Amino acid sequence: MSDAMNVDYDGLIPNNVGLNADARLRRALESWHPGYLDWWQARGPEGFQESLVYLRTAVSVDPEGWAKFGYVRMPEYRWGILLAPAVEDRRIAFGAHKGEPAWQEVPGEHRAMLRRLIVVQGDTEPAAVEQQRYLGRTAPSLYDLRNLFQVSVEEARHLWAMVYLLQKYFGRDGREEAEDLLRRRSGDQDTPRLLGAFNEATPDWLSFFMFTFFTDRDGKMQLHALSQSGFDPLSRTCRFMLTEEAHHMFVGQSGIGRIIERTCAAMRAAGIDDPYDIERVRALGVIDLPT
Ligand SMILES: [Fe+2]
Ligand SMILES: [Fe+2]
Repeated sequence: MSDAMNVDYDGLIPNNVGLNADARLRRALESWHPGYLDWWQARGPEGFQESLVYLRTAVSVDPEGWAKFGYVRMPEYRWGILLAPAVEDRRIAFGAHKGEPAWQEVPGEHRAMLRRLIVVQGDTEPAAVEQQRYLGRTAPSLYDLRNLFQVSVEEARHLWAMVYLLQKYFGRDGREEAEDLLRRRSGDQDTPRLLGAFNEATPDWLSFFMFTFFTDRDGKMQLHALSQSGFDPLSRTCRFMLTEEAHHMFVGQSGIGRIIERTCAAMRAAGIDDPYDIERVRALGVIDLPT
């Protein structure tokens, strides 16, 4: 009986893709792992690597109970490879191949394009972690700090998700792309990330909340699109990533909401009606609404 709901936690890499039975893939992932940890230390959250952080970790792909919560040191987080359960007899929903069975292997004619899509998606995930690297220094509260780190470890897991696809289905060039995902760096002059938005600085928490409000929302649309892919492993991977994405947008939405609420309360208390009275509003120690 296949039990794709449950995740195998015994090995180095938690997974529900039968890694134990696929020695080649397991070797590829295990040899990528140390470089990944180096990347996490060098470009992941600055400070706090030794702290115990209360985090959720995906332990199942069952929508009814897919995560467990507990204190973890971030470098010891169990980044895993998780696919949503297969849909029986899934068919391609659009385009020239509409109605045909979804592809379980990469179709030769679309190989280059699929690889490109996966690389671009994969590149955004570590980029976001890099952009948010220093925000722990200025967290407004412990609550926000925890949310930040939750987003960071999950974006990093999304990198694993894409690296899995590259290493499993794209052979040697997939392995090279997986290395390059650790080599590029957000905002770097010589080796920037692939998309412009992921090379912008995220220097403060307003930027972070705007990022999780808009950019993660855009990411959600993109994941929804990819989850319709005729290439079934990509579809299943992205479907599970969407489970985690909801919280990222919650962070943005509730963060922006709290800022606006605080500004309005301070303005009321000070008897200010004009939102464009920017200097007076800022003098209250809150962010003015036009900003
Ligand atoms: Fe992500
Ligand atoms: Fe996200």
